[in-house]
Parts: sequence; C-alpha cells; structure tokens
Amino acid sequence: MTRCRRWLTTAALALAGCAGPFPQSTLHPRSDYGRAIDHLFTDIFWWAVVVFVIVETLLLIALIRFRHREGRPAPKPLHGHTALEIGWTLAPAVILVLVAVPTVRTIFATAGDAPPDALKVEVIGHQWWWEYKYPSLGIVTANEMHVPVGKPVQVSITSADVIHSFWAPALGGKRDATPGHITRIAFRADSVGNYSGQCAEFCGQSHANMRLRVLVDAEAAFETWVKTEQAGPAAPAPASPAEAGKAVYSRSACLACHTIKGISPGVIGPDLTHFGSRTTIAAGVFPNDSADLARWIADAPALKPGSLMPRMQPPLSDAEIAALVAYLQSLK
Ligand code: CUA
Repeated sequence: MTRCRRWLTTAALALAGCAGPFPQSTLHPRSDYGRAIDHLFTDIFWWAVVVFVIVETLLLIALIRFRHREGRPAPKPLHGHTALEIGWTLAPAVILVLVAVPTVRTIFATAGDAPPDALKVEVIGHQWWWEYKYPSLGIVTANEMHVPVGKPVQVSITSADVIHSFWAPALGGKRDATPGHITRIAFRADSVGNYSGQCAEFCGQSHANMRLRVLVDAEAAFETWVKTEQAGPAAPAPASPAEAGKAVYSRSACLACHTIKGISPGVIGPDLTHFGSRTTIAAGVFPNDSADLARWIADAPALKPGSLMPRMQPPLSDAEIAALVAYLQSLK
C-alpha cells in the first residue's frame, strides 16, 4: 500500500512538472530563432517516434510469433538475405539524411547576421553578472536587456574574464561568451514579455547565480526605456532619505567599482545609473526590493558565494545602508 502510494506521489510530482509555468523552456519559443530550433526539435522527435513504433512493432511480432511452444521445432536461422540487408542499411541512411538536411539548414539559418538596420546589443559576461551595451544608443546597463518586439536584434557576445554562455531559452541561443572573441546571435522577438535566462557554461562559484532577463517591450515602451536610460541619473529630492544616501554613496567604496553617470566612473561592477528601474538585483537572483537590497549591500558574498562585491569594511551602519537603499532605488 505504502509502495503504491509512493508510486502515485512520484507520478503526481512528475505530472506537476508538465503544468508550467515555463520560464526557461525552449519548447515555448518567442522569436524566429527559438521557433527554428523548436521546429527542428519537433521534426526529429517525430522521426524518432516513427523509428520507435516500427522497431517495437517488429520486436513484438517476433516475440509473439516465434515464442517457444511445446513440440515446436527451433526456427530456421536465416543467412545472407540480400534484400533484407540492403533494406536495413538504406532505411537508416535515408532517415539520417532526412534528419541531417533540416539540422544543417537550421544551423546556417540561426548563425546568420541580422539585417544591417538591426538593434545592436553587446553582451559582456562577468563573474557573475551580465553587462549590456547599446553602442548606437549610448546605453550601458546590466542583467536586464530590453529589446523592442518585432524588430531584428543583433547580439554580439564576449567575456571580461572566463568563458560564460548567454542563454535566454525562449529567444534562442545559447552562445559562448569567450574572452578575446566575439560570438553572435540574431533574433526577432515576436511577443512582449519578460524572459528568463542564465549563464549556461560553468564559470565558477556563482555560475548558478548568473541569471539574466530579456524584456521584450512594445515599441513605445522601448522608446521610453531608451530615453530614460540616455538621461542622467534622477536627482534625489532635497532633504529626502535618497539625498542622504547620495552623500553616503559619494564617500563610500562603491565609487571605485560602479558607474553612476556624472557621479562615479567605476567599471568593475554593474552600471547603477538607472538601477532603480531594474526589477532584480545580483544578476536576477533577488527582487529589487528594500530588504534584499539592504542585505546585499551589507554582505554580498553571504548572498552570492564568491561575489566580487566585498563585505563593506568598515561596515556601514543600518542608517547608512537604509539611506543607500533609498538612493539606489530612486535612480529610475
Ligand atoms: Cu557565467 Cu556560468
């Protein structure tokens, strides 16, 4: 009885896995690139089904027809049946060709460049976060890439340290981010949404915490995002907690690693100029809310093993951290 119940529980859990949501599924493509891969997968899947059904049917026929019966002589072995041998050599060869042709075609189709008017985004992998640069728009941001829906996007990928791999499953990929080398993907997203992805190449202690988002915006929303990003950081209101936080920031060690346009020029960590407009922190690991941000500022390595952002030394007071949180979140 307990065994039966265990089986039922296992089956229920397995089925629950099919229920969704599917934040990182290649089977729910949302771009031309993603669809090309999905079509190829479906094609090959059905070829495998055909092979499985034929082979299993023949196996069952043989098992039933030639099974041992009382008084029946042993079946006669067959040697050198030319037609059969040609058949079982040709059939797999034909199936392999039918799999290889669409595979090679998809490889070439998805390795091509976007049209010249495509939006260009440079992706730079860092231990353990993603930097995004939009050279034609003068934008630098981190971890959350924005692209317009229905427009071609050309992504160039490289790394600042070790090999990473950029992968947003619904949109296509994945592509290695290799230091000193540029790889590319091109896609056209076909529905507005917030798509999760992550680094897909083991890159050290916080590989699993190197997540990312691609936000596919409607055209107007994308234009608004571009205008906001191109502007300088929002100025805190006079005598507000955010203004106190700006003062803390200006005398902190944060300056050495982070850029806030017009305030600090650091390039080691993510650009914080419009930090408040991002939905997550620590490369998509935590929501961008006050409690998580305060914990992150106080002791980043405790939240993300190996984080290059050190524990604050000397530690900031709770009041200083609260002020910094208010300032960073005001940077919309
Ligand atoms: Cu970067 Cu794994």
